[in-house]
Amino acid sequence: MITASTSLYCVLGNPVGHSLSPLIHNGALEENKINAVYLAFEPENIEEAMVSIRSMGIRGASITIPFKTSIIPYLDWVDPMAQVIGAVNTVVNKKGRLMGYNTDSQAATAPLLAHGIQDKTICIVGAGGAARAVAHGILKQGGDLIITNRSKDKGLDLADHVSGRFIPMEEIDTIEADVVINTTSVGMAPEIESLSFPAQALRPGMIVMDVVYTPLETKLLTTAREKGCITIDGLAMFLAQASAQFELWTGITPNPKTMRNSVLSTPVVKENI
Ligand code: ATR
Repeated sequence: MITASTSLYCVLGNPVGHSLSPLIHNGALEENKINAVYLAFEPENIEEAMVSIRSMGIRGASITIPFKTSIIPYLDWVDPMAQVIGAVNTVVNKKGRLMGYNTDSQAATAPLLAHGIQDKTICIVGAGGAARAVAHGILKQGGDLIITNRSKDKGLDLADHVSGRFIPMEEIDTIEADVVINTTSVGMAPEIESLSFPAQALRPGMIVMDVVYTPLETKLLTTAREKGCITIDGLAMFLAQASAQFELWTGITPNPKTMRNSVLSTPVVKENI
């Protein structure tokens, strides 16, 4: 029941209309009997939004495109990992002190940990914000990184930051890796036939992970499965970053099955499975 003491959490993004975060966080709040609600806001200006968070005592926020970097100057403290990545996706309001974290990087490595990352060669396709978070998460675990990207300058820049090797997209067929992670939007609905990594470079036993989760099984994952690779869908990372946010706000680890089921029951994901 919503009362005068109900707390508020939110997601700040623009556009934010298709965000699945309200669904999963409200489900977890309800399941854990926490007197709070989670809403989506679409501010024009992140500085003004942060003033509102402070003045209205909003307890925490998920930060999404396009504010992950521009929010940083308006925070009181930024976690060292988020500083290195240069992006914040979670704000915790600790008694008026706004603290910024990045749960994307640990989320990217969480589904891979069971397979072991240390001493493996990991190829990241893409060099944008998602790639940065994934690359730093892998680096922390001791993996050897290859970056490939459509635009050379961005790819080289990321490779430089994470002490990885850059291989141009034109030479993607030559890449020999134990793990491939697609961090680009290639393969996302409606362009579901697009392949972010060539079939001929996929070998049995490789681990192939996609951050795209609409469709849940992208062309990359179908192709990889047919080639005998181990596949990890994009929902794994999406849910892991949300779960880590929930933990930062409440100290409680949410039930992963409930979170996954709430996403799978939404029309946008269901239609694309
Ligand atoms: P995000 O924060 O979601 O990672 P981003 O910072 O805009 O988004 O980065 C998108 C990444 O996907 C980039 O690496 C981009 O390549 P460029 O650096 O060349 O722009 C990559 N990308 C997007 N669309 C692509 C496409 N059709 N083919 C190949 N790479 C693509």
